[in-house]
Amino acid sequence: MTTLTPILTKTWDQADSFTLEGYERSGGYQAVRTALGMAPDDIVQAVKDSGLRGRGGAGFPTGMKWSFIPQGTGKANYLVVNADESEPGTCKDIPLMMANPHVLVEGVIISAFAIRANHAFIYIRGEVLHVIRRVQQAVADAYAAGYLGTNILGSGFDLEVVVHSGAGAYICGEETALLDSLEGYRGQPRLKPPFPAVAGLYGGPTVINNVESIASVPSIIANGADWFASMGTEKSKGFGIFSLSGHVTRPGQYEAPLGITLRELLKMAGGIRAGHQLKFWTPGGSSTPILTPEHLDVPLDFESVGAAGSMLGTRALQIFDETTCVLRAVLRWTEFYAHESCGKCTPCREGTYWLKQMLARLEKGQGSEEDLTTLNDIADNILGRSFCALGDGATSPIHSSIKNFRDEYLQHFEHGGCPFDPAKSTIWAGAQ
Ligand SMILES: Cc1cc2nc3c(=O)[nH]c(=O)nc-3n(C[C@H](O)[C@H](O)[C@H](O)COP(=O)(O)O)c2cc1C
Ligand code: SF4
Repeated sequence: MTTLTPILTKTWDQADSFTLEGYERSGGYQAVRTALGMAPDDIVQAVKDSGLRGRGGAGFPTGMKWSFIPQGTGKANYLVVNADESEPGTCKDIPLMMANPHVLVEGVIISAFAIRANHAFIYIRGEVLHVIRRVQQAVADAYAAGYLGTNILGSGFDLEVVVHSGAGAYICGEETALLDSLEGYRGQPRLKPPFPAVAGLYGGPTVINNVESIASVPSIIANGADWFASMGTEKSKGFGIFSLSGHVTRPGQYEAPLGITLRELLKMAGGIRAGHQLKFWTPGGSSTPILTPEHLDVPLDFESVGAAGSMLGTRALQIFDETTCVLRAVLRWTEFYAHESCGKCTPCREGTYWLKQMLARLEKGQGSEEDLTTLNDIADNILGRSFCALGDGATSPIHSSIKNFRDEYLQHFEHGGCPFDPAKSTIWAGAQ
């Protein structure tokens, strides 16, 4: 039985976990002292050796990303923290920044030092004003304590950190759209190449990492790469925050080694809510194809979830029991994608609009089996043909729900409407 490994979440139940004093009392800001005494390249190597892979969804090796930053170009390097967290179901970075903002700040200092950046930005989604205020306070306290600014802890290293608030667009979590937004433009993805490591923010070499990726760095420096690599699986090392939401007895954040299974997590979370059974779930947010009870024992690591036909994504485990109409859930997600499509490319702009129109009709029971072929066709014309991964993500619920729940679509047509009893379905009850 895999057990929890509280590292980032260790102090969340302490009343002052978010303060400088609370963080220092639990050993905070010790790793930065070690790091500032190391050669920057040795920090990059340690992060490479740890096997840390990006926690923002795609799982790209963090140390390798850092090593792409060209040095000695004469241009300023930048570190950007992606704290836009807007994917439906994803809810780990926001509680992390609320409960322990200083571990992020410490991670920023070490990471910026490693890539030789003297400016770092934390881009936080605009709706979460309380989180923005909390991180701003942590940054201000870190400046006052000499952890930020000029000549940090007498090391000669200077770092300015800016906390920037987005304006509430999911697309601004896509790394190049985020950079445009940060520069003051409308947030739309940029053509790659050039990749941000070569020409990113203001045209300078830029590393963009997820909150949890950067927040994991102090623990790697403090405990060593081998310690981190001893957790997880062969290719998916370390620990991560698994966010259980939906029809589960104790929803919340469960920090565990990668490779833990949903069955194990559900045991810790008190199971599916009383009297109900698991129907379907997402392993990593709405952009990851839905899975079913037959996948309860799939190890939640990048490779195994991929082999099961989905993606680990952001470990946003949205749990749905048998009272949920899958078509209704897919319609909700599709409305989100149609709303958030930035409009830059035709397959996503037009395709998500038509997916939404069709699903709304099918959900009312107006349709036939042929419509499922059309739905799949529209999704096929978005997947792999869109400018960025938002379009691809929008197709995941469509393809996977038709594959796993074709009968339920057909029941809608036979029934002339949703076959679920509204009184028994929380989704219906909540929506009406
Ligand atoms: C539509 C869209 C939204 C995204 N939103 C986020 C986000 O909110 N946070 C995040 O870290 N990555 C997000 N990503 C992934 C980023 O583009 C990028 O891969 C990530 O920030 C890299 O950090 P990592 O290597 O530490 O995971 C999003 C991608 C897409 C296509
Ligand atoms: S895939 Fe969608 S979100 Fe991405 S660039 Fe195209 S229209 Fe914009």
